[in-house]
Amino acid sequence: MPSDTKTLLDLNNLSVRIGRQVILNDVSLKIRSGECVAIVGGSGAGKSTLLRCLMGLTRPAVPFSGLLAFDGQEMDFSSLERQQKPKRIAYVPQNPDQGFDPLKRLRWQWQQAFRVITGRMNISQVQEPLLEELGLKPFGACFPYEWSRGMQQRLLLAMALMGKPRLLILDEPTSALDPLIAAQVLRAVKKYAEMHNVAVLIVTHDLSLAARYADRTTIMNTGRVVEFGETSHLLSAPQSDYGQLLVNHRDWITKDLGQLSSSIAAE
Ligand SMILES: Nc1ncnc2c1ncn2[C@@H]1O[C@H](COP(=O)(O)OP(=O)(O)O)[C@@H](O)[C@H]1O
Ligand SMILES: [Mg+2]
Repeated sequence: MPSDTKTLLDLNNLSVRIGRQVILNDVSLKIRSGECVAIVGGSGAGKSTLLRCLMGLTRPAVPFSGLLAFDGQEMDFSSLERQQKPKRIAYVPQNPDQGFDPLKRLRWQWQQAFRVITGRMNISQVQEPLLEELGLKPFGACFPYEWSRGMQQRLLLAMALMGKPRLLILDEPTSALDPLIAAQVLRAVKKYAEMHNVAVLIVTHDLSLAARYADRTTIMNTGRVVEFGETSHLLSAPQSDYGQLLVNHRDWITKDLGQLSSSIAAE
C-alpha cells in the first residue's frame, strides 16, 4: 500500500440502463492514489460497462444517476448534457490485436500514439526510457507480428502510460495471454505503478489474480457491488453469499489441484 492515501477516484451511486434493462445499480467505488484495486465478477456482471462510464464512454448505456470525482474533475451522470471525459485515465485493451495495425511498423504506431496522446508532433527522447522500463527492446524496423504477444501487450501499456495517467485501467488483462506472459506483463505494471504513483484498476473474473496484485477488491454480481474491502480480509472472511461462493470455489480449485498433484507424485 502506498504511503500517499489520498482518494483519487470517488464514484457514488452510479446506475445505468441499456434499453429497459438496468445494467448497473447504485455502484460506488473508491480508489486511492497509487493503489491497485481489482473488480471481480462473472461474465455479464457489468464490469466493462462500469469501466466505460469511468472513462466517459457511456453508449449504448444510459446513466441515470451517479457522481464521479476524479483528480479534481467532476462528472454528474444524471445530467444529460455533453460531459467532458475525465483526463489522465488510461486504458489498455484486453488483446494486443485490438491495439495495433498489423500493416504498419511499430515505430510509426508509437509515434502516432505520441501525437494523439500528447498533442505534440515531435516525439521526445523522454519517451524512450519508458520502453526500457517495461523491458522492451528498440523497435528497429519491426512489424507487430515480429514481436511476441507479451511484448506487444507491454508496448500497448507503454503507449497508455505516455500521457502520464494517474489511473491505469486494465480490462481482463490476462485472458488473451498465456499465464507466464500475463504474470510478466502484470509485474511490469506493478513496478511502474509503484515507481510513479499510478493507481491501477484491474478488472477480472479471476479472484486469484486479485489476490496476487490488488490492495483492495470489489466483487460485483448482476450490476451491483456486493463486497468491497482489503483483498486479504475479503479472501479470509467474505461477507456476501456471492463473495463466499467465489472464495470457496477458488479454494476448491486449489485443493483439487493439490490432491491431483500429490496423487500423481504417489504413483
Ligand atoms: N451493447 C450492448 N447492447 C445490449 N446489452 C449490452 C451491451 N453491452 C453490454 N450489455 C449487457 O450489459 C450487461 C453487462 O455487460 P458487461 O458490462 O459487458 O459485463 P462484464 O464486463 O462484467 O462481462 C450484460 O447483461 C450485457 O448483456
Ligand atoms: Mg467485460
